[in-house]
Amino acid sequence: MRAALAGRGRVGLVPTMGYLHDGHATLMRRAREVCDVLVVSIFVNPLQFGPAEDLAAYPRDLERDLGVVEGAGVDVVFMPDVGITYPPAFDTRVVVSGVSEGLDGESRPGHFTGVATVVLKLLNLVRPDVAFFGEKDWQQLMVLRQMVRDLNVPVDVVGLPTVRAPSGLALSSRNSYLDSAQQVRAAVLSRALLAVQATYASGERQAAKLRQAGLDVLAQDPEVTLDYLSIVGRDMRERAVVDNGPMTRVLLAAHLFGVRLIDNMPLVTEKHGANPA
Ligand code: PAF
Repeated sequence: MRAALAGRGRVGLVPTMGYLHDGHATLMRRAREVCDVLVVSIFVNPLQFGPAEDLAAYPRDLERDLGVVEGAGVDVVFMPDVGITYPPAFDTRVVVSGVSEGLDGESRPGHFTGVATVVLKLLNLVRPDVAFFGEKDWQQLMVLRQMVRDLNVPVDVVGLPTVRAPSGLALSSRNSYLDSAQQVRAAVLSRALLAVQATYASGERQAAKLRQAGLDVLAQDPEVTLDYLSIVGRDMRERAVVDNGPMTRVLLAAHLFGVRLIDNMPLVTEKHGANPA
């Protein structure tokens, strides 16, 4: 693939699993602004789904996706075949330690290994100069930055802020499992994060108290089954007293109406971007 793109300038890659929404379109628009050639990959990566997860049910709508990529001025849509991507003899995994271990790494064993493995393959196949990811998957972004640093992958990783519905619900392909009333109910997750943010802004630095502010909001909706609500730093670890760093973040995962959703917000609200040195 890269040979076909040689000499055409700065190449940007937006890796996706399809069922594209405005969060993806925002990544594409940004990539379009800063790159000469824009590649979007659509690949539902079986390696990042656990055996009890929603691989078979994962929403797919290629026709609609192609409309979205066309609207975003994408040059190349890369849709690898699963059997060619993972032939029977495929026997390599990219394991990132540390930042991948808690939170989703604990709840979804093997998930980040699947993500790191497919993203490294995509980066090697496309060889983009820049790759774009959403901050909604904050821990994924940290795992991929770690991989790129550790393995000297020649790509700039750009993270862009989460795009939200007017209710506050973070856009996600998995929202399609919920009807519109349920999606409005699911905005309780972002309200919980905002409560933690506001408590932090009021000067609180005790993690337990910050966490409680979020838990109090989640407790208002009996539909919420919490997986985790954690305040972490750059290393994705919790501390009793949170620091003031721009990478301090509140992350949560919860089940509502049988669907597992994740979301996160920075605690320092001034614009810092997710593109640390
Ligand atoms: O964020 C996603 O959609 C996926 O995890 C990714 C990065 C495309 C890898 O399959």
